[in-house]
Amino acid sequence: VTAQLNPRGDVAVLVPAAGAGVRLGPGAPKALRLLAGETLLVHAVRRVAAAPSVRLIVVAAPVAEIAAVRALLAPIADALVVAGGADRQHSVAAALAAVPDDVPIVLVHDAARALAPPELVEAVAAAVRDGLDAVIPVLPVVDTVKEVDAAGVVHGTVDRTVLRAVQTPQGFRHNVLAAAHAAATDPLTDDAGLVEKAGGTVHTVPGSDHALKITRPIDLLLATALLGARS
Ligand code: CTP
Ligand code: MG
Repeated sequence: VTAQLNPRGDVAVLVPAAGAGVRLGPGAPKALRLLAGETLLVHAVRRVAAAPSVRLIVVAAPVAEIAAVRALLAPIADALVVAGGADRQHSVAAALAAVPDDVPIVLVHDAARALAPPELVEAVAAAVRDGLDAVIPVLPVVDTVKEVDAAGVVHGTVDRTVLRAVQTPQGFRHNVLAAAHAAATDPLTDDAGLVEKAGGTVHTVPGSDHALKITRPIDLLLATALLGARS
């Protein structure tokens, strides 16, 4: 059954899904790879659509897959599907252009974080609604992190206590995200980075183990196990 989005919701969620998935190995674009019999994109959009504040979902799809993605999502949620760009930032910009001005909160997600729960979507949206310009979910860094040069020689150990691993969805006041994208020069790997560059303040909320980014084959194994553990 198609999830009904909330017409009174105050949140648009952008789902960049136009990447190739090179690190996952040969095959379909990553968002269209299967996890427990369904594409990563379907998993991601279903969870976003289950968040009660969401009024609009905009997916940036690989250009060659737009019709296929529309067909795939039709039974899941009434999502808008636009053509993605050459890098993630341009895919986000293309999706952002489809969000009407009267939606006050915009979240930027990754199709690759297919299991991010609706509760995380709501927590990020709520933090923006409560007055923050930019909010990102984060987790502590578990590994010791070192600076290493091109020859493989260690030059220092970073203080792990001040580091956080960053997830999506990242949440923004609509105008703050639009201004950050308008001012963007070099592509960055996340949207909060654009806000930082534009001089804005980014706040954090606790992330979720389920919001892991599916990047390498081992991540698919972990995600499959997470799905099994919950059912
Ligand atoms: N993405 C996008 N458009 C691009 C590149 C990436 O919409 N031109 C999206 C991906 O589909 C993914 C998210 O951005 O949902 C995070 O990117 P990443 O995990 O790097 O995915 P890929 O770029 O597909 O993977 P890889 O870098 O291994 O090719
Ligand atoms: Mg990539």
